[in-house]
Amino acid sequence: MDAPLDGKIILVTGAAGEIGTASAALMARRGGRIVAVDRPGRDFSSLRRAVDGDLLAIEADVTDEASVRDYVARALALAGRIDVFFNNAGIDGPIARIADYGIEDFRKVMAVNVEGVFLGLRHVLPVMLGQGFGSIVNSSSASGLTGSPGMWGYNASKHAVVGLTRVAATEAAPHGVRVNCINPGPIRSRMIGRLDETIGSSEAKRSRGIPARRYGTVEEVAGLVAFLASDDCPYINGAVHSIDGGLTAI
Ligand SMILES: NC(=O)c1ccc[n+]([C@@H]2O[C@H](COP(=O)([O-])OP(=O)(O)OC[C@H]3O[C@@H](n4cnc5c(N)ncnc54)[C@H](O)[C@@H]3O)[C@@H](O)[C@H]2O)c1
Repeated sequence: MDAPLDGKIILVTGAAGEIGTASAALMARRGGRIVAVDRPGRDFSSLRRAVDGDLLAIEADVTDEASVRDYVARALALAGRIDVFFNNAGIDGPIARIADYGIEDFRKVMAVNVEGVFLGLRHVLPVMLGQGFGSIVNSSSASGLTGSPGMWGYNASKHAVVGLTRVAATEAAPHGVRVNCINPGPIRSRMIGRLDETIGSSEAKRSRGIPARRYGTVEEVAGLVAFLASDDCPYINGAVHSIDGGLTAI
């Protein structure tokens, strides 16, 4: 099998989650060396099983700048460079009508999904600008392009990730660095399972509104992440990549 990510140092946040694990596993199979970041206390064991090879696991809260500085320093210590950054940690938060959606819940979602992504960019991007190469993939969502009732924090935060991606790309592109975001629609995962439970829905019901008539899989998302991480797409920069079975094309 070809190894388009051969020898690359690949930093992944939210790595112990479902999309993070599938992406880390695929990028490791394609030759990358994975530096996996997830929140303190998170179980890394299924990630370790999925990534068959060398894995540096780091417990860090992406909302804490000192921890971000530390995970970047530890990734850099491996080979003096960071080739790929999958800026992926995220939470969904509650679903509630505006009068019931508390400001603390809103702040919590914004802290992880926006400030966490911003802090990752703030500490990884200068490294890549100094190197003159690198690829960053931010995790937005179809919810970063559309509105859904009750998802105040999540939708707002994922729109912000699109904005951060575009700003970052304009600073990065002149220096040979790429910054893109991915915008998955519903993917078969715990996050979507919980959401469906909360709104009393299911894949069968919601798929009627998706042109592909099904949810996506974490492996499909991983394929997009690995492509954007690779050197196969040097002119793709600042772009918003829907992976949603046509959901946002309607
Ligand atoms: N699952 C989907 O259908 C879907 C769709 C669109 C976008 N996304 C986005 O993709 C990303 C990954 O989603 P997933 O389905 O793998 O979810 P997940 O819950 O399985 O993974 C998210 C990971 O982020 C970690 N995390 C949360 N807060 C953190 C913090 N403060 N510091 C460090 N790590 C933290 C969690 O511990 C978890 O391991 C998220 O940003 C999510 O919003 C998911």
